Amino acid sequence: MSDAVELFLKEAIGLHSGTIGSSVIDHAIKQRMNACGITDIQIYRQHLVTSDYERQELINAVVVPETWFFRDREAFGAAVQHLRNTSDISRPKRILSLPCSSGEEPFSMAISLFEAGFGAEDFRIDAVDVSTQNLEKAERAIYGRNSFRGSDLGLCASYFDNVDVGLQPNDRVRGQVAFTRANLFEWAPVLGEHGYDVILCRNLLIYFDRQTQERALRRLGGWLAPNGLLLVGPGESGIPTTCGYASVRAPRAFAFRKADRPQMAPAAVLPLQSSLAPRPAAPAGSPKPKPTAAAGKAAVKPFGVPRTAMPESAVSSADRAAASLAAIERAANTGRMTEARQAAAAHFADFGPSADIFYLMGLICDASGETSEAIQHYRKALYLAPDHAETLAHLALLLQSRGDISAAKALNSRLAKLEQRRSGS
Ligand SMILES: C[S@@+](CC[C@H](N)C(=O)[O-])C[C@H]1O[C@@H](n2cnc3c(N)ncnc32)[C@H](O)[C@@H]1O
Repeated sequence: MSDAVELFLKEAIGLHSGTIGSSVIDHAIKQRMNACGITDIQIYRQHLVTSDYERQELINAVVVPETWFFRDREAFGAAVQHLRNTSDISRPKRILSLPCSSGEEPFSMAISLFEAGFGAEDFRIDAVDVSTQNLEKAERAIYGRNSFRGSDLGLCASYFDNVDVGLQPNDRVRGQVAFTRANLFEWAPVLGEHGYDVILCRNLLIYFDRQTQERALRRLGGWLAPNGLLLVGPGESGIPTTCGYASVRAPRAFAFRKADRPQMAPAAVLPLQSSLAPRPAAPAGSPKPKPTAAAGKAAVKPFGVPRTAMPESAVSSADRAAASLAAIERAANTGRMTEARQAAAAHFADFGPSADIFYLMGLICDASGETSEAIQHYRKALYLAPDHAETLAHLALLLQSRGDISAAKALNSRLAKLEQRRSGS
């Protein structure tokens, strides 16, 4: 009988039970039935039909709110470059973050644009989510450690105020973002003459079945400006090209345009380095990419070191590797350790050793209490990439917890120097 509730969720918000598992949905239903004091699923189904409040509470209980600042940060670099290259300077740029969850994504976008020299009057961000619970957090905008995973906070600290229980984006950042509670499948945005220049629809399509993904991408396509940029999550990068979009081939940004529109040069997008940035070797003898006009403009400084565009063949392999790393990270972040381990082994077999995969293997072992193995993996990551900030931070913590204070101190001082170098670059 919970099938009927699953069907309701699919019809209401597109959620396909196969993607998160019926047991997760069952758990949410049980939680809500308890809260309502209802023991019979048929009565609960009836209750859902008549109560707006309960429908919303069930949605709140079942959605996955997972998000953090500068998640897949190349996406923000790609959006900034795209907006810089958009010729129409007579109007503020319009950006949509749907789903925005608890707000980390739209605030990251605002900070990225300020850092790139955009003024408050140059852009507006609409941030939309179906969960009232997530939106309450977004409106409060007070964030703890979990919202800054892998982010180099020191470099964007000036955009945050310290408040009692965490950090809050300052008034200037918050002033750029307008939050709305809406469902992707019901919302009707006021588009005016132009659509959105950039739409971030990341880590939502993965929860839909194929038909619903197509429906979602058709709706988004209708809201996107003719040359607008659509950004999806790493695990979703294979979907838009089968639904009328073309990749702009920006490494690790997972960025697309409507396919019937003229494509801009892929090299116009300058990726930003992330904690899991792929570092593929360019094929021997491949020409060095020429610097573009866009690359000559002020680089987007604080969130990473801009890299040159990669040759196309390397890009697609890098995209696959990045998507695979992101999937491992996602599994580990959500506690699915067996899956994360299996995916890490498969990644290793497919793409070979890299600092990023050793880092993630270290993280998985670390989280599972296998400290000696974790240390070995972290050390291998640092051998391949001595400046791998996340590895430095995690290894320092681990060594400290084992009482090796001097080794932890040495790593922390390397990390501090690295941050200084990056903030000064
Ligand atoms: C995993 S979060 C993604 C947040 C952010 N885009 C990111 O990538 O970090 C998924 C969000 O999708 C929202 N959501 C699910 N179905 C939705 C729908 N039909 N319309 C709008 N938002 C939806 C959930 O409430 C949740 O906050």
